[in-house]
Amino acid sequence: MRTPLIAGNWKMFKTLDEASSWADDIAKRVSDITRPEILVCPPCLYVHALAESLRGSPVRVGSQNVFWEDSGAFTGEVSAPMLASAGASHVIIGHSERRQYFGETDETVNKRLFAAIRGGLTPIVCVGETLDQREAGKTNTVIEAQIKNGLAGIDPGQAGLLVIAYEPVWAIGTGKTATPETAQGVHAFIRGLLRELFGQEVADRIRILYGGSVKGDNIDALMAKADIDGALVGGASLDAASFERIIRFKGK
Ligand code: PGA
Repeated sequence: MRTPLIAGNWKMFKTLDEASSWADDIAKRVSDITRPEILVCPPCLYVHALAESLRGSPVRVGSQNVFWEDSGAFTGEVSAPMLASAGASHVIIGHSERRQYFGETDETVNKRLFAAIRGGLTPIVCVGETLDQREAGKTNTVIEAQIKNGLAGIDPGQAGLLVIAYEPVWAIGTGKTATPETAQGVHAFIRGLLRELFGQEVADRIRILYGGSVKGDNIDALMAKADIDGALVGGASLDAASFERIIRFKGK
């Protein structure tokens, strides 16, 4: 079955020194782990240093964003070939903070997705509804549009490489996690959409992570659900001990 993936998203936190100490610490803590897969997504400035210092450990390194062109006159942007050459294996695409503050749309998500695949990076495509959308009963409609438009034009062969992260916006950084039942309901809905788009076999292979206030004390119950294949962890990934606890979830 699907290998669980626990991914940390540092957002815009830590200096280089802090990042290096974290890497030394986590490498010692998880050196025995072969399952789940472990990923950390620091600010892209630290991707190379972390990829070097975590080489030989089970922790892989990803980026929090990627531009859709491979090279060119695009001041301030970073491309998939650059990230891959710096040691990144994965990239987060369409995080709700990028949608909220930086004008990310399903269309730009789609362009970044193609760039990631071209560059050999595993894309982690984020979807999720806001509180207003949930209260208006629009959760499924919103998720369906994000999945169908974000993944437009992807063929089933490429889709097998995808990771999806369901992150309800109202649960991110708020301490309000979706209940395991609520999350499982949306994950099952997403898997149904993936089945419609890519067929049963591919849909069964795609990992769907939950994100939004994941902590040591709620990860076990979340991971016990059939369609929750891992977690995208913000705040609790910044501390190596609390990230380790999440990596060592019980069940599955
Ligand atoms: P949080 O963030 O765990 O701090 O809620 C999750 C995310 O935004 O990926």
